[in-house]
Amino acid sequence: MKAITLHASPTPHRFLPAGPLRGRIRVPGDKSISHRSIMLGALAVGETRVTGLLEGEDVLATAAAMRAMGASVERQDDGTWSIHGTGVGTLLQPAGALDMGNSGTSTRLLMGLVASHPITATFTGDASLSRRPMGRVIEPLSQMGADISPSPGGTLPLMIRGLSPAVPITYRLPVASAQVKSAVLLAGLNTAGITTVIEPVPTRDHSERMLRGFGADLTVEEHGGERHIHLRGEASLRPQTITVPGDPSSAAFFAVAALLVPGSDLVIENVGLNPTRAALFTVLRQMGGSITELNPREVGGEPVADLHARHSPLTGVEVDPALAPAMIDEFPVLFVAASLAHGMTVTTGLEELRVKESDRLSTMAAALTAAGARITEQPDGLTIHGTGGDPLPGTPHAVATKLDHRIAMSMAVAGLVSQGGVEVDDTGPIATSFPTFRALLDSATGQA
Ligand code: S3P
Repeated sequence: MKAITLHASPTPHRFLPAGPLRGRIRVPGDKSISHRSIMLGALAVGETRVTGLLEGEDVLATAAAMRAMGASVERQDDGTWSIHGTGVGTLLQPAGALDMGNSGTSTRLLMGLVASHPITATFTGDASLSRRPMGRVIEPLSQMGADISPSPGGTLPLMIRGLSPAVPITYRLPVASAQVKSAVLLAGLNTAGITTVIEPVPTRDHSERMLRGFGADLTVEEHGGERHIHLRGEASLRPQTITVPGDPSSAAFFAVAALLVPGSDLVIENVGLNPTRAALFTVLRQMGGSITELNPREVGGEPVADLHARHSPLTGVEVDPALAPAMIDEFPVLFVAASLAHGMTVTTGLEELRVKESDRLSTMAAALTAAGARITEQPDGLTIHGTGGDPLPGTPHAVATKLDHRIAMSMAVAGLVSQGGVEVDDTGPIATSFPTFRALLDSATGQA
């Protein structure tokens, strides 16, 4: 079963220092919400319509998988996505392996869906995804009755045979992971009785919000500081009209770039600011960054605002590890901001970063060090001594991004604030989450 997706040859690029970021931009739709809108739309009876869907490779992998399991998922000419589902419990056995590309979210959430349907599916992925731990979802889904055969080490490729009826469980998350929480809840949709997930530390709650929006019977209680999420199974979901807000994790690169590049004054419109996602902006403000929220409103059941970011001198901080889950994907770009701040930034409690698309502590430490930043790597975080606002020297050779889109985009931001530019070994993976990144960066910096 050791088939691994092969990728096109790498596309290196040197990101050069560039002028201020100015004007108004919009980033593509939220990746987490896009995945979930396709999955739940495919389980509702009737037509779900989604606008603002992120058309990145990860989300397209979810769309292809749901099609392979019987749903119709199509893009209309006006950019709206139309999804026709046939109901919870009706997923069909896919004819071939489900290729998840680079996407951990697709893999773990879809494993949850398959776990409680009477079907068998094989999941494969690229070299990055094939290194990532799946034991964290194999454990609870096996308790629910799924029969899962992973590759040695608990990784992809793996085969999962679902059980219907599955067994409802109460599962206390051993790691703070929205993917594990969501996998169990999605498995619970086609499971008679109440499935409960206990979250000692809150993680992004898009699944809970959207399940409720689709009419699932889901309740959340707080006990002793922990969240107990109960879902009543054998749900019947009602199709929805969904507007996906802009992805705060994509906005993060532009917000940091605007704070760092002198003369910048940028508005990023329509950014999702769910409190379980938005802690980067809190930390940047603690560092002295000028980031204000304009026109706060609600879009698709999620808080949204326009973010106004202006060039600001930054000061290093100790980042509260309790904030980590609410900015888990934003540490690579925070490390870039810290590299240009006055004084020292200390981050701790970040062991989870080692099992993302790459080991984001060692990959960022190596890439930023190559660009001239002063970094010390600890087992659970980085300590960074900033330049005090002076540009980084830049890289003589390409830095390794290890098939990790967020490393590539973070180092692109580092290139903007360098003397000689930063060469990234492969910009291809950026298309997994932000296909328009380079064009938007060129337009915001006045190069387009
Ligand atoms: C995600 C959850 C997070 C995050 C990932 C998207 C989701 O992963 O890093 O990019 O959509 O549920 P973990 O659950 O592994 O923390």
